[in-house]
Amino acid sequence: MSNTLPRGAAPIRVALLGCGTVGTEVVRLIEEQSKDLTARIGAPLEIVGIAVRRPDKHPDIKASLLTTDAQSLVDGDADIVVEVIGGIDPVKGLLVDALRSGKSVVSANKALLAEEGGLLHAAAAESGADLYYEAAVAGAIPILRPLRESMVGDRITRVLGIVNGTTNYILSRMDETGSSFSEALAEATDLGYAEADPTADVDGFDAAAKAAILAALAFHTPVTTDDVYREGISAVTSGDFASARDMGCTIKLLSICERVSDPDNPSEDAVSARVYPAMIPRTHPLASVGDAFNAVFVEAEAAGPLMFYGKGAGGDPTASAVLGDLVAVARNKVATTTGGGVSTYAALPIRPMGKTPTRYHVSLDVSDKAGVLAAVATEFARNDVSISTVRQEGRGDEATLVLVTHTAADEALAATVEQLHASEYVRAVVSVMRVEGKDS
Ligand code: NDP
Ligand code: HSE
Repeated sequence: MSNTLPRGAAPIRVALLGCGTVGTEVVRLIEEQSKDLTARIGAPLEIVGIAVRRPDKHPDIKASLLTTDAQSLVDGDADIVVEVIGGIDPVKGLLVDALRSGKSVVSANKALLAEEGGLLHAAAAESGADLYYEAAVAGAIPILRPLRESMVGDRITRVLGIVNGTTNYILSRMDETGSSFSEALAEATDLGYAEADPTADVDGFDAAAKAAILAALAFHTPVTTDDVYREGISAVTSGDFASARDMGCTIKLLSICERVSDPDNPSEDAVSARVYPAMIPRTHPLASVGDAFNAVFVEAEAAGPLMFYGKGAGGDPTASAVLGDLVAVARNKVATTTGGGVSTYAALPIRPMGKTPTRYHVSLDVSDKAGVLAAVATEFARNDVSISTVRQEGRGDEATLVLVTHTAADEALAATVEQLHASEYVRAVVSVMRVEGKDS
């Protein structure tokens, strides 16, 4: 086999939009690995321009490449646009213009892909351009192309992921050290995991955007951020972790995407996509994913269970995923072809959270006297929620009832908890947490 390049292969012209944490590493990798990348692609990569907000903040970049006018790069003669700015506007318009003009696009932008993936894919299909965004979910971990390409012949039933590193760091610290949410958040901020405004991470918005992207690819159906039920981790307490420990569980912020039956039409399928903190058995592969790492567990009918694990954020790991996409679309340019698009033919309905079967772990501060357990059990029965286990901890004024339910519709469990709040037998509902997994 020859290892020489086609002589005089025309460079593949790359416009880079954004040069921050991720973009800086993209530029470094393109420059440092230029010979290898040329050999792998069959043509050299040439960066023709880099759009930033503040050119004076980029002394290491050749000044002639820098511009504040991202639109001029999109309208220029680049073959590929790599977008690492983030957010919806002005990026949405820039990428639609790039795709409609036939430029292939590589993006790391989960917010945009989760909200406007349909629009972008339609623009790509219109002109026959590639649209790849591996870095948008779980940073360095190859998960989108496995869903989109390697597993496209299988029937995926479930994708369960820890896809936000900041919250995984916080929950891991709470578990390991017994610290409170705010102490663990302060540590995550000091270490640079959490941003000054941590809302997108701790309230689950980031994980919900990633869940939408995963669900759309796994189930060949349009799913946007608005379709994803979301709860964050700021209400998780050290008491919840103590309860989890007693159950042989830890607590993780899970992004759960499932192919389920449609509650309105049980012979048809629907999609459930949801993000919330949940107790997960310590024996589950995701329970041991610590620190700021990410992992995605996929279940498919023929393949069975698969696990993907690695770094979900940071300049280098994210740039690795961007470069993988860049090489793929550059190879397609050399071969004058495009990679596969994505299919949304299934057009499955979204199952509302209330109709989704879940299990709850409930701790109640109660009076330690005859009839209390029966009264509490009656509230569960009233909503047709079956109790799996119940135990009492402490005596007298210190009595706590800990109940774990069988699976029931989430709305039935939520209604039960609301009635327990109002019950004269319950002094306080101490903790309510969903438990991941099927009935034992
Ligand atoms: P940064 O904030 O570090 O960088 C953003 C870059 O975009 C900066 O260079 C900024 O310019 C530039 N920029 C902002 N607005 C404009 C504009 N209107 N026109 C031109 N340039 C603009 O972001 P990150 O590198 O952290 O993230 C980039 C993308 O990667 C986001 O979509 C993010 O969600 C995604 N991502 C990031 C990960 C991470 O670990 N950081 C992990 C996975 C995905 P200037 O430098 O002059 O301010
Ligand atoms: N803020 C994200 C996280 C990284 O904490 O995982 C970018 O996706």
